[in-house]
Amino acid sequence: MSKTDWRIGVAGLGTVGGGLLEFLLERPGFSPTGGQAIVTGISARTRARPRPFDISNIPWFDDPVALARSPENDIFVELIGGFEGPAKDAVEAALLAGKPVVTANKALLAHHGAELARLAEAKGVPLLFEAAVMGGVPAVKIMREAMVGDDILSVAGILNGTCNYILTEMEATGRAFADVLADAQRLGYAEADPTTDVGGFDAAHKITLLAALAFGCAPNFAATEVEGIDQIDLMDIRLAKDLGYRVKLVASAERSEDGVLVRVHPSLAPMAHPLAQAGGALNALFIEGQRIGRIFVQGPGAGARPTAAAVAADIADVMTRAVRPVFQKPASELKPFTPVDPSKSMGRAYLRFMVKDEPGVIAAVSETLAEAGVSIESFLQKPVENADGVPIVLTTHAVAESVLMAAIERIANLSSVLDRPRLLRIARI
Ligand SMILES: NC(=O)c1ccc[n+]([C@@H]2O[C@H](COP(=O)([O-])OP(=O)(O)OC[C@H]3O[C@@H](n4cnc5c(N)ncnc54)[C@H](OP(=O)(O)O)[C@@H]3O)[C@@H](O)[C@H]2O)c1
Repeated sequence: MSKTDWRIGVAGLGTVGGGLLEFLLERPGFSPTGGQAIVTGISARTRARPRPFDISNIPWFDDPVALARSPENDIFVELIGGFEGPAKDAVEAALLAGKPVVTANKALLAHHGAELARLAEAKGVPLLFEAAVMGGVPAVKIMREAMVGDDILSVAGILNGTCNYILTEMEATGRAFADVLADAQRLGYAEADPTTDVGGFDAAHKITLLAALAFGCAPNFAATEVEGIDQIDLMDIRLAKDLGYRVKLVASAERSEDGVLVRVHPSLAPMAHPLAQAGGALNALFIEGQRIGRIFVQGPGAGARPTAAAVAADIADVMTRAVRPVFQKPASELKPFTPVDPSKSMGRAYLRFMVKDEPGVIAAVSETLAEAGVSIESFLQKPVENADGVPIVLTTHAVAESVLMAAIERIANLSSVLDRPRLLRIARI
C-alpha cells in the first residue's frame, strides 16, 4: 500500500463541509493507507462568515470551479449542494481535469449521474458519493461493494430524517403537521424552505441512486413516483395506529419481469416492524438479495459528524487508488431502466372516507368496493372530535392500483361522502 499524501480541495463549508474540515484538520492521517489527507484549498459563498475552525492558513478560492481545476489539489470534494449551478460546474471541471471527486450531493447525481459517470470513466477517475444516501450509514458501499455477488431484488426504507422526525413528533405529541414543521425549522431539523424534504424529493433523489446501484442502470429521477408528507393528517396517524400501523415516508425500488418500480409515498408499516420502530431523525433500509436474503441497516442519515465520516471514508477509498464503476456497471453500458406502470402494481391499502353520519353509508361504501373488485381486510368506524362527518377507515387485501383508484373515484362521488377519500399504501416490507 502506497503511503502517498493526498491534497484535498473542499468546496462548501456548511454542515457537511464544516464537519469534514474539522475532521481532516484534526486527523489528517486517518486513512488506512498511512498517507496524509491535507486540505490545500477551500471555497464557500462568504469568506468572511465566522466558522468554528481556523481557515486562515488554507488557500481560499472565491470560485469553486477554480478550486476544482487547481493543480494544487489531487481530490475535489463537493459539499455545496444543488443539481445545477456551482456544484455541477465544479464537479464537471474536476472530472475534466482528471481529478477524483467525492460528493454528498444526491440531487446532482439523481439528475446528472449518468453523464457524470461517463465523464469520470472517460478520465479513469473515481466519482464517489457514500454520504449522499443515508448520511453516516454505509448504504452505498453495501450496494456497490458488498452485494456485487448477489442480485438485488428490492430496496425499501426511510431515507429522509426530517420527514421521519416530523411524523414521529406528530404521533407522539398529537400536534398537526404545520406546527411540528415550524418546530423542526426552529430546531434546525428542517430547512427554511422545507419543500425538498417534506415534498418527498430528497428521499426520491436517494432512492433513485439506490435503484441505479441495485439494478445497474442509469439514475432515472424522472421515472420516480414522488409523494411527500405535506398532506398527512393527524387523524390518519391516529387511525392507522388504532389499526396497528405507523405512518412512515417509505422509499422503495423493486425489480420485476416488467421492469423497475421506484416510488416514495407516505405508507403504513406494521407497528412491530423495524421500519415502524425507526423513530425520530433515524434512517433505515431493507435490502433484499436473491442469495443473501434480507439485510437491514439503520442509523443517522444526516448531521455534520456522521455525514463527514462518510465523506472521509470515500476520500480514504480514493487514497487506496481503487476505481470502480460509479453505478455498478461501466458507464458506457448504463441504460435507464424500464419503469413499471404503477397502476399495474399490486398492493394493500389504507382508505379513509369522511361520511355523513346516517344509515346505509357503510353498506354503500362496502358495496361499491365489492363491485369494483376491492376486498376489505379490516374495518374501523370511530367518531373523531372536531371533524366534519365520521371517518370510515378500512384496509384492503392486495389489489391492482388501477382497480383501487377506480373504486376510490366511485366512492368519492357518493352523495354521503363529504371529502376527498384518503389513500395510504401499506408498505410491502
Ligand atoms: N446536512 C446534512 O446532514 C447532509 C447529509 C447528507 C448529504 N448532504 C448533502 O451535502 C451537501 C451540503 O449540504 P449542507 O447541509 O452541508 O449544506 P449547507 O450547510 O447549506 O452548506 C452549503 C455550503 O456551500 C457553500 N456555497 C453555497 N453556494 C456556493 C457557491 N456559489 N460557491 C461556493 N460555495 C457555495 C455555502 O457557503 P457559506 O458557508 O459561505 O454560506 C456553504 O458553506 C448537499 O448536497 C446536501 O444534500 C447533507
